[in-house]
Amino acid sequence: MELQKTGLPGLDKLLNGGIPKGWTCIVSGEPGAGKTCLSVGFLVEGIKKFNEPGIFVSFNEAKKELYMTQESFGYNLNELEKEDKFLFLDFSYGRALGQGQFALQQKKFDLPALTKALKDAINKIDAKRLVIDPLTIISLLFDNEREIRYNFLRFFDIIRRFGVTTIAIVEKGVNSYSVEEFLASGIIRLYNERSGAKRQRGIEVVKMRGVNHKRGVFPLSITGKGVVISPDVEMPS
Ligand SMILES: Nc1ncnc2c1ncn2[C@@H]1O[C@H](COP(=O)(O)OP(=O)(O)O)[C@@H](O)[C@H]1O
Ligand SMILES: [Mg+2]
Repeated sequence: MELQKTGLPGLDKLLNGGIPKGWTCIVSGEPGAGKTCLSVGFLVEGIKKFNEPGIFVSFNEAKKELYMTQESFGYNLNELEKEDKFLFLDFSYGRALGQGQFALQQKKFDLPALTKALKDAINKIDAKRLVIDPLTIISLLFDNEREIRYNFLRFFDIIRRFGVTTIAIVEKGVNSYSVEEFLASGIIRLYNERSGAKRQRGIEVVKMRGVNHKRGVFPLSITGKGVVISPDVEMPS
């Protein structure tokens, strides 16, 4: 199996090489844990280190907001966009309608329309990396678990055939797993846990099918240069 380095040195060490090429890996965690920062880092490092263009699909933050917040990590997304290395797909005004559909202002979307928009964007810049922030929207489109599971699996399969390596963000608390996490090939969890008056950030590769990854929680910090992961330091228990 061919592994694709994320380009984030600490994470590649935790993964013993990287994410299997073309797979979808879930990054989950609480608000403020660093999910968006880590996934933008995955795209920017992919461009800078491996010349692999990337796409960010946003269901949360509007373009202007994301570009501005990412500047504080030294990521200049405007510049990468001008060089045709980066594309932002803005679905931040989307509204789930049920029965497999969502609306974006006047336009109705369903999963096939979304995958078509993705395919066009991927072809446009020859993208090799994709981020979906968050993937949670897909479960909002369907009304029962059978439909949700079926459509997740179908969606993962479609993006695999697009040949992009994907980070899909899942928003959640610490103690349970979501259906996306059971179905995906890989899960990376980010923590932002409180102990007394302090909070400590951490990262854990929970599963990565086919990869002999490190186990356990390791320190993660968010800095002016994005996320920094310390793969050789055990977290205090
Ligand atoms: N320049 C910076 N230096 C250090 N930490 C920062 C900086 N900018 C933002 N942060 C931290 O990053 C957090 C946001 O991370 P983010 O990736 O958006 O989290 P998530 O997507 O998991 O909700 C902020 O809550 C803040 O604590
Ligand atoms: Mg976020």
